[in-house]
Amino acid sequence: MPDQMPALLIDSASRHYAGTAAPAVDGVTLDVAAGEFLALLGPSGCGKSTLLRMVAGFERLDAGRIAVGGRTLSGPSTHVPPEERRIGLVFQSYALWPHMTVDGNVAYPLETARVPKADRERRVRAALETVGLTGYEARRPAELSGGQRQRVALARCLVMSPELVLLDEPLANLDVHLRAAMEEEFADFHAKTGATMVYVTHDQAEAMALATRIAVLDRGRLAQVAPPRTLYREPATPMVAGFVGQGAVVEGAVLTAAAEGRCRVRLFGAEAVVRCRSGQGEGPALFCLRPEDLEPDPQGPITATVVRAAYKGGFVLVEAEPAEAPGVRLTLRVGGDAHVAPGEALRLAIRDGWVVPEGDGAAG
Ligand SMILES: Nc1ncnc2c1ncn2[C@@H]1O[C@H](COP(=O)(O)OP(=O)(O)OP(=O)(O)O)[C@@H](O)[C@H]1O
Ligand SMILES: [Mg+2]
Repeated sequence: MPDQMPALLIDSASRHYAGTAAPAVDGVTLDVAAGEFLALLGPSGCGKSTLLRMVAGFERLDAGRIAVGGRTLSGPSTHVPPEERRIGLVFQSYALWPHMTVDGNVAYPLETARVPKADRERRVRAALETVGLTGYEARRPAELSGGQRQRVALARCLVMSPELVLLDEPLANLDVHLRAAMEEEFADFHAKTGATMVYVTHDQAEAMALATRIAVLDRGRLAQVAPPRTLYREPATPMVAGFVGQGAVVEGAVLTAAAEGRCRVRLFGAEAVVRCRSGQGEGPALFCLRPEDLEPDPQGPITATVVRAAYKGGFVLVEAEPAEAPGVRLTLRVGGDAHVAPGEALRLAIRDGWVVPEGDGAAG
């Protein structure tokens, strides 16, 4: 069954640049299903682009293996050159030919591949239609907006019908409004083509909006791979808890061992019940508290001081410091009509939360 096979398989892949202290990519194992939209997320320098370049064939592996559609492209004794990989690439700088028209830019890879003229014209037309640029064929890149240029780059990648499309921060050069519009276009593009996509970003909102699964890289290692909701609700390491979504990662203690995925805990001198992995042990632990896990409550057991309050339209986003834990900042939302100001006292209740599992070595 061809579609049971992962479209992309990365097996214990490593890359250590000469003269650097630590590997840029360190034993990453990951598989991407056919038609999946996987986001590769992580802070600057964590190895996202290096991993993508390894898949594209621009970087050799020091160890491990990469296969696309069941065929090994990079391995101990194999290195298929980039131009023979049938992988589509869209990078941050769209690198269009400035002297060529939109038509010419999109047709270029087909000409290089010596595709006959009639077939070429048909495929260029279809690709431009997919990205919504029909009617722009005769324009040059300088006569297009940033978003339109990015779409030309997308059409140029699409025209080759790649098995796999790799995108490295394709929206990084665009302003906020255009980014939002292009996000929708990527989602459409993915739905229309059914292509397998790996999308690098350090913008978690972008990853959440687009991806079926998100892989978080932390200093060259894979910290977690999960659907957006799982990543948000059940971060596997303190790094993921702090990097994805708003909220706080705080110290506390698990009082009673897990039952049905919940445990009784002590946080800031008060007891609460939060979610945890089954088999969670007792004792000191780290907790992830999202804004919706905390509730202002005059009867609440936790006393805190408002440090910052920002009206967000409909609600006030409050940062508060618990009296029991100076230096810790909790984030919560307070109803839009409430008046909250820095320096004020606030009582809170903990409605939910997550016990961050002990690091598996992925986060220090
Ligand atoms: N050609 C190179 N030679 C040496 N070191 C490199 C090279 N390219 C990248 N690095 C280093 O490898 C690490 C990973 O870099 P990479 O470009 O993969 O990060 P990234 O996650 O894409 O970051 P960003 O979000 O800033 O694009 C960094 O520490 C970087 O300095
Ligand atoms: Mg990068």
